[in-house]
Amino acid sequence: METKNHPATILVIDDEAPVRESLRDYLEDRSFTVLEAESGRQALDLMNKEAVDLVLLDLRMPEMDGLQVLRVLHSVFPQTPVIIVSGAGSLQDAIQCLRFGAWDYITKPVQDMGLLQHRMEKALERSNLQKQNDQYQHHLEELVKEKSSAIVNENEILKDALGDTIRVIDRLVERKDPYTAGHQKRVAVLADAISAYMNLNQNQREGLFLAATIHDLGKVTVPSALLVKPGKLTEPEFGVIKQHAAAGFDILKEARFPWPIATIVQQHHERADGTGYPLGIKGSEMLIESRILAIADVVEAMSSNRPYRFGRGIEATLAEIQRGIGSIYDPDAAAACLQLFEKKQFLFEEWRLV
Ligand SMILES: [Fe+2]
Repeated sequence: METKNHPATILVIDDEAPVRESLRDYLEDRSFTVLEAESGRQALDLMNKEAVDLVLLDLRMPEMDGLQVLRVLHSVFPQTPVIIVSGAGSLQDAIQCLRFGAWDYITKPVQDMGLLQHRMEKALERSNLQKQNDQYQHHLEELVKEKSSAIVNENEILKDALGDTIRVIDRLVERKDPYTAGHQKRVAVLADAISAYMNLNQNQREGLFLAATIHDLGKVTVPSALLVKPGKLTEPEFGVIKQHAAAGFDILKEARFPWPIATIVQQHHERADGTGYPLGIKGSEMLIESRILAIADVVEAMSSNRPYRFGRGIEATLAEIQRGIGSIYDPDAAAACLQLFEKKQFLFEEWRLV
């Protein structure tokens, strides 16, 4: 009898030499490879060294009895079928052996060697099927792991490409509105610091950072003359500038980013009390990302110098944020921003986290 690639190796465990010999003679004549052990201990030693396809096990043995050997074999080599060949043939013994993992039970002396061979072949067939099934299962798991990591890689590449696109848009906006050069980047860094302080998850932080980097994108639709106009704007002129939030949303809404970038951009001039624009939504109607971005935007715009005016400085700006807590600014985002500056975890001068 041959298994898939080699003649099956049978281990005969019996303390009586004549029994082992007669089984060996019979099985070797039928092309099995036979190993012998006269005790449980010897059998375990052998199985640790040699690949065994099936075990024929006697129950009554000195030292470690067959049932003990069976339990150890079943836990260490669960895939190796064990057939009990025992003279102590009570029904009780048979049931107990099967409960402890034996595959079959035959009484000794074996009257019908053909029947033993038939049971062995059945057991070997089943164990081969089980091994093949395990290999198939393992192969499937490996395949799933491989595919999952390929998807993760593709996602990373896609995210990088989206990041590049965002940076290109940032440069485009800066060309249109050179007076605010660097504004979007600095806002993005501060917004990211606030979101980290508030423990937003990684995905939200990525989306907020990218949205902040292009939050004034809608300014490309505003006439340049208006963007660079020195001095105070008239009410109608300011009305045109205000359209940039909705315009940014319109430009971005068709893009299928894995983050709500268009909505974050749309809401960056909304205020917690509903006095913002373009929608006049309030509180939790705004995304948390937008509530953070609104504050980072104000802090950067108010405190930084522009070619046509001096900034108000960080102290006056933070006092302004403090005044707006509970009305125009989200209390949690505003508190996080103030804390970042007070605890000096954010170096305003360099716009970076320390
Ligand atoms: Fe804006």
